Amino acid sequence: MSQDFATYKAFWDHQARDRLNAMLAVDGSGDDEVLLCTGQYTADQVVAALDLQPSDRVLELGCGVGRIGSELAARVGHWQGVDISQKMIDVARDRLSGFSNVSADVLERTRLDPAADQSLDKAYSVAVFIHLDKEDLFLYLQDLYRALKPGGRIYFDTWNIAHPVGFRRFAYEVNRFRDQAPVARKDVARNQFSCPQEIEIYLQQAGFEVAMMLADSPWIQAVAVKPGGSEPLEQIKGKLAAQRDTIIYGAGWTEFFDRLLQTIFEGVHPQALYDSLRARQGDREADMFATWLRGFWKLSEAQFGPAPAA
Ligand SMILES: C[S@@+](CC[C@H](N)C(=O)[O-])C[C@H]1O[C@@H](n2cnc3c(N)ncnc32)[C@H](O)[C@@H]1O
Repeated sequence: MSQDFATYKAFWDHQARDRLNAMLAVDGSGDDEVLLCTGQYTADQVVAALDLQPSDRVLELGCGVGRIGSELAARVGHWQGVDISQKMIDVARDRLSGFSNVSADVLERTRLDPAADQSLDKAYSVAVFIHLDKEDLFLYLQDLYRALKPGGRIYFDTWNIAHPVGFRRFAYEVNRFRDQAPVARKDVARNQFSCPQEIEIYLQQAGFEVAMMLADSPWIQAVAVKPGGSEPLEQIKGKLAAQRDTIIYGAGWTEFFDRLLQTIFEGVHPQALYDSLRARQGDREADMFATWLRGFWKLSEAQFGPAPAA
């Protein structure tokens, strides 16, 4: 249990103690094919949210094994991954060793020391703020502001407690702690939840202008801009609105995820979910989920029996 770990670093270094476990910790699959599939899906969201350009210097906060970075490195000028876990960084460096325009650095605290002031065009963070105390989330937003050039842009996500499925995800966490001794501190890296208004406040207090806030799924997805760039905010908002369907976790995604929660937390057999995903073959979200579910099922064959072949 993560309450055995006093720091983010100790917890995540333990999670990433070898390559398989590092992969498991970033998308729950531990499988190269699945990592590629989910990495492509998320990279498409990031490209659209940040309007990534070939000359951009881009930072990923909490890059893990480079699941997304390996998809983006060829599409940007420079990709820089940073992470609190040296073990994650070791795997990321190895997986990205074929690229000459990447760097990967370990962080020692809630501060982006490897990123110089006003050195970045864009930055993003996926599935990281869900594991941070709110103070650390805000500290990172402040430091991202420092490291971005004027007009620079960030994209990130976190759990959305204001959505019914987001709240159900929160309720599973609550159940984990129901019988915990009242004096015990909670896990340092436990899942944390926010509402859109809260994220908007953090962004504004850190100096950003909010360009997009999506909250129709268990995720809050935010795009924000550091003032002072040449492109007017209204123009950025217009372009983002046109990309909404690529960026958002859509209704299909939300439905699949809700059913997946029942499999993961309540042991509901995954066959019916898998069948309905296959019935929607060709749909981007259904195909990604089907690949992920096969990977998860393969790891859980003792519980659910043989996983389906691709
Ligand atoms: C669920 S993984 C996601 C990895 C990657 N963003 C992806 O989507 O594939 C969370 C990552 O955040 C990193 N992390 C956790 N706490 C952190 C912190 N306080 N500062 C920086 N990185 C952190 C972990 O080491 C881990 O690599």
